[in-house]
Order: sequence, then C-alpha cells, then structure tokens
Amino acid sequence: MTKLKAILGKGDIRKASCDALCLMFVEKELSLSLPGRAADKAVGGAVSRAISRGFKGKKNEVERIVAGKSSPFGQIVLVGLGPRDKLDAENYRQAGGLFIGALDKRGEKLRAHVELRDPFRAGMSLAEIACAFVAGAALKNYRYLEYKTKNSGDGPVNTLALYGDSRTIAKAVERGLVAAEAQCFARDLINTPSAMLTPELFVRAARKAALEHKLQVKVWKEPELRKAKMNAILAVGQGSCNPPRMAAVTYRGAKRKGLDIVLVGKGVTFDSGGISIKPSAKMDEMKGDMSGAAVTLAAMTAAARLKLKVNVVAVMPLVENMPGGGAQRPGDIIRTASGQTVEVKNTDAEGRLILADALHYATTLKPRTGVVDLATLTGACTIALGSQAIGLMGNNEDLLSKVGAAALASGERTWLLPLWEEYEELIESPVADMINTSTRREAGTIVGGIFLKRFVGDTPWAHLDIASVMWNDKAGPYLAAGPTGKGVRLLIRLLESLQ
Ligand code: BES
Ligand code: MN
Ligand code: ZN
Repeated sequence: MTKLKAILGKGDIRKASCDALCLMFVEKELSLSLPGRAADKAVGGAVSRAISRGFKGKKNEVERIVAGKSSPFGQIVLVGLGPRDKLDAENYRQAGGLFIGALDKRGEKLRAHVELRDPFRAGMSLAEIACAFVAGAALKNYRYLEYKTKNSGDGPVNTLALYGDSRTIAKAVERGLVAAEAQCFARDLINTPSAMLTPELFVRAARKAALEHKLQVKVWKEPELRKAKMNAILAVGQGSCNPPRMAAVTYRGAKRKGLDIVLVGKGVTFDSGGISIKPSAKMDEMKGDMSGAAVTLAAMTAAARLKLKVNVVAVMPLVENMPGGGAQRPGDIIRTASGQTVEVKNTDAEGRLILADALHYATTLKPRTGVVDLATLTGACTIALGSQAIGLMGNNEDLLSKVGAAALASGERTWLLPLWEEYEELIESPVADMINTSTRREAGTIVGGIFLKRFVGDTPWAHLDIASVMWNDKAGPYLAAGPTGKGVRLLIRLLESLQ
C-alpha cells in the first residue's frame, strides 16, 4: 500500500512553497480566495483566465495549470464542487481524490497543499470537510505495487499539507486518514491473489494486524470447527486443499462489560463456485470474495487506532470454495452449528453457508446492539442496485436505522430491501429444513437475506450485501478500478455512533 503523509499546514499557505496547490470552487461562485489570488498572481493571471475561459466550478470539473519554474506553487489545480445547495461530504471526498489524481506525478514525490475554509454550506462543519477531503486524497493515492517489478511511473504523492484552523481540523484529519488507510488495507487484502491469501494465510494477516494494533485473536482450525459443529464451514472448505478456518478478532475500548456489537465478514478466499462451477469470465474477481472479512478486519484496526470506546468482535469464516475430489455435492445435506439442516442445491451459494455457522456463533456472544454481517453474497445485488448502493436487510428497525445513518455519513450508501415472511417459501426443501438457493431466479439478494435470517434468532441483525460495490469496473473520483474496500468507512462510522 502506498501511504499519503497528511500533515497540518503551518502559517500562511500563500507563503509556503509546494509542488501542487488545490483551489476549490462552488459552482458559479468563482471569486478568488486569498490563496487563490496569490496563486493567480504567481502564474501571471492564469487562474483568472481559466475562469473567464469557462471553468465554472461544476461538480468534478478539474483544470490543471502548470506554473513556471519561478512560481512557488508548482501546479495549480482548480476543482469544482458543484452547486452550493447540494454540497455534502462526498463532494469534498471527490475533490480530494480529483486533486491528487490530476497531478502530473512522473514518478517523483510531491508536496501538495490545500486550504480548507469554513463550510460552504450551512449544516456542514469544517471538521467534516477536512475528514472527507483527506480521505479522498489518501484513497486516490493508493497503489497496489506488490507484484510490480518495474516502476510504474505514475508514483504517489508524498505529503498533503492541510491548512485551516488546526484546532478544528486536526482530529478530523486524523479520522479521515485512519479510515482511508484502513480501507486501503482492505484493498490490499482483496488485491492479494488467492494463492497468496488462503484461509490460513488470511489468519496470519489477521494475527499480524492484531499484534500491531493490540487486538486479541482466536482461531478455529478444523478440529475446533468440528468440535463447534460448524459443519457448514467445513462442508464448503472440503473441496479445497487449503483447509478452512475461522478467526475472531476482539477490540475492547470501552470499560463496560460485554460486547456492543459483533461484525461478521464473509471470507471466501476464492470462489470458483465449487462443483456448481462458475463460468470463466471475470472469475479472477472472485479473489475478492473475502471482501467482507477484509473490511471487518480493517475496521477493527481503525477502531484501535482511533481508540473508539466500544467493545467489538469481528468474526471471519474463511474458506476456499473449490471443486476438488472431496468437495461437497449438490444434494448434500449439512447439519449446521445451529442444528438446522440445509440441502445444498447449488455449491456456488457458499457464502450463506459459512455465514450460517458464523452468525450462529456471533449470536452466542450476546452483543448489546446486535450483529452486522458484510458479504459479497449475490450477483443479483448488482442487478438490483447497480454499483451505487450496498444491499441492506435485517430484522430490527433500530439497528437498520443506525446502519443507514452510518452509511449516509460515510458516503457508502445502502438501500433497504425487505425480508417479508412471504419470501420464506423460496427456500423450502422437501428433505431438509431449507435449501441454500431458490429454484426460481427472482429476488436473489432477498433470498440470501431470508436464508441468513434463520441463523440469528431474535438477535438484532443487519446484513450488508456488498457484492454490488466490491469491485470498480472503472476508476471513480477517488477509487481506482479494482477492489474498493467499501464498507470500511461505514463500519467505522457505525462503531463511532455506538460510543
Ligand atoms: N461470491 C458470489 C457472489 C458474487 C458474484 C459476488 C459476483 C461478487 C460478484 C456468491 O458466492 C455467489 O456465487 N452467489 C450466487 C448465488 C446463486 C447461486 C444463488 C450468484 O450470485 O450467482
Ligand atoms: Mn459463490
Ligand atoms: Zn461467493
């Protein structure tokens, strides 16, 4: 992972030389700020000229001005925020990303400067702006270079100095940066090829992260999984020569007894589909089928770094879904840890199987607020929502509204889908308590939710189907093409709200 060093700018930004300066504009409000005027002067009026030539400050409009060698500001990047009445944190996250993305880097490290001023819109705080801007910048600065043997040329920015009332923005910059770095940690895990991140190797990554952030780890190997009757995790794992595991990572930041929340993350380190094998197109993206586990683990590191006053456990069932000789077959019946039996109609609906055991375990921990799972569960989620929203389902209004609020605040939006009892008939089995997939194509994402619901009892529970957002087909303002790590910022907000 390439890290952005974010520092607080000291003194007057106009007197600080840099390699790149960001100037943000609200649409149609193009009068120059003080640093704007200084920058304009340094480039012989080129900023004013850009504006008179047609830069309007529209959302995501970017114009880069290359200053001469004598200018103290290097490149000047104008970024549009869009109309004032529509401004929110996401605009600033995008602005941070667009700024970093616009720079001509040519492999060298740059010092980038920006001044964050009072909120442009009532109701938004400067702290919120700072948190969002630095997160967008750090996310855009991310590269996965583990297997690049040659310098890819387009190097990362070295430092971003944020100018502004430091008492207000210091904490916010820290929060934004920690959240972005956690998200980049998740992206690193998701980017890692499955051969290099088997269930056992994921456990090692979790142990390493835990050691670094003083978290506790508990690991179930096959004997412990058998003892706990986690036969669904074992069944999915039995087709691979990389055996299944389960990991639970605990962070205790609050003095009170007990747990506030348990997070559960689907950790399928590779999903070939098993005997119900997938078509080969895009199968490589199934190295990302452990996104849920990566996101929960990453959120735990952020909770520790931010010293959040919550007690939380992240439970990660880890398997590789392969069609080996020992693999489970369609028609097999699993007796899950909860005692309920499942007829395996389709071995490619493996996520809900491992979650059945993990969710059951999570409920035995009796968290005060409830259980939240994240899973790349259904391709149908993309059909329903496209790549703009995470599918949200659950059994408890209060928890759902907490998750929904965290989603809005983090910019990782969710959309609620129903789990009405009329859907239950879709998973009826003639021979077991349920089947793992409906025989009909309708409501695929809801069917996943309906299945999981049976394993949480009356524990408040929310399910986030992140299959729709796990992978970016093309680059966005602050996230590159590839794994997004979406869910991390949402979880951090959720944990913050439980303090
Ligand atoms: N991991 C997949 C879901 C997925 C698909 C995530 C595409 C991200 C991108 C999951 O295990 C799966 O295979 N689901 C099946 C369910 C079906 C068999 C009921 C699916 O979506 O086709
Ligand atoms: Mn699958
Ligand atoms: Zn899967």
